[in-house]
Amino acid sequence: MAILVTGGAGYIGSHICVGLLNAGYEIVVLDNFSNSNPEALRRVSEITGKQFKKYQVDLVNKERVEQIFSEIKIDAVIHLAGLKAVGESVVVPLKYYQNNLTGTINLADAMKKYKVKKLVFSSSATVYGATDQIPIREDTPLGAVNPYGRTKQMIEDIFRDLYDSDSTWNIALLRYFNPIGSHNSGRIGEDPNGIPDNLMPYISQVAIGKLPYLNVFGNDYPTKDGTGLRDYIHVVDLAIGHLKALEKVQSTSGIGAYNLGTGRGYSVLEMVEAFEKASGKKVPYTIKDRRQGDAAICFADPTKAREQLGWEATRGINVMCEDTWRWQQNNPNGYEKLVKPITKSG
Ligand code: WQD
Repeated sequence: MAILVTGGAGYIGSHICVGLLNAGYEIVVLDNFSNSNPEALRRVSEITGKQFKKYQVDLVNKERVEQIFSEIKIDAVIHLAGLKAVGESVVVPLKYYQNNLTGTINLADAMKKYKVKKLVFSSSATVYGATDQIPIREDTPLGAVNPYGRTKQMIEDIFRDLYDSDSTWNIALLRYFNPIGSHNSGRIGEDPNGIPDNLMPYISQVAIGKLPYLNVFGNDYPTKDGTGLRDYIHVVDLAIGHLKALEKVQSTSGIGAYNLGTGRGYSVLEMVEAFEKASGKKVPYTIKDRRQGDAAICFADPTKAREQLGWEATRGINVMCEDTWRWQQNNPNGYEKLVKPITKSG
């Protein structure tokens, strides 16, 4: 019985695949490689010494999704596939609704048809929107403020309605805070297309000399140094949180949302300082105006995940920066673009 991982070639997905394989699970990966690289899956096998089935599949292709379930005995699904750039979602909202919602509904339909009712869903802290309830608890009112976040909130609602219609489903909704870092091998990591939107890959590219300096978006926030404060979580801690959630949905029926964060926030300038210490490189920066849509402060109360999943983050900011730097140094251009993508593999 396999665990189906949608979006398994992505930054977070590849780290989850390493964790699943090392824990002895059989996995099947679906990915359309629109924002990921098959090389990441080759390196998952390199790190773990294990092979696994992988298919280039777009979840919006309903027939293709059903075909996978007809061919392979699937025990549970970890659903990560989706478009995830906040800024882009504001520019092309229909692309985000089409891709994220249609893909999810096709997946859920196939799961229902083949009686696969154990699901871990990759949600996001963006479902909380601009809340002043800090630290954020799972019962904090939801209020996504951009199309990307709204797709995540809508998908959570879809799964809550699905559970209300059939309580034999077992569903965990994992709300990620700010994932950073890389597997300590330096062989898999974050590989953004073009200029990074997110802070850590941007800092890392400044440190290695690909970008001249960091733009700090605002230093007039109500924080100790005036810069934005976030809950950065090591991507390996995040992956372990998925393994714990998988154990939960394999043993308990019900639906629950869980914050995957550390419960501690760091400011932009604290991240710059930590990365300079980890890399031994200077990270020059300039102060710019606030970025539209940014919250001042956002970090999790991770109590529920600790109590109900038996999970908590253990990796600190120094390890997050050291592991990011190792990935950056070993792969200055990320995953080299490959000649031939994977279409189907046994
Ligand atoms: C972090 C801090 C910026 C870049 C986003 C998504 C969220 C989730 C995680 C998917 C903020 C500041 C950033 C830069 C800067 N992804 N910053 N200069 O916005 O908290 O969350 O990624 O689920 O959905 O919204 O992350 O890394 O973009 O910003 O000063 O060049 O760094 O203002 O304070 P964010 P981020």
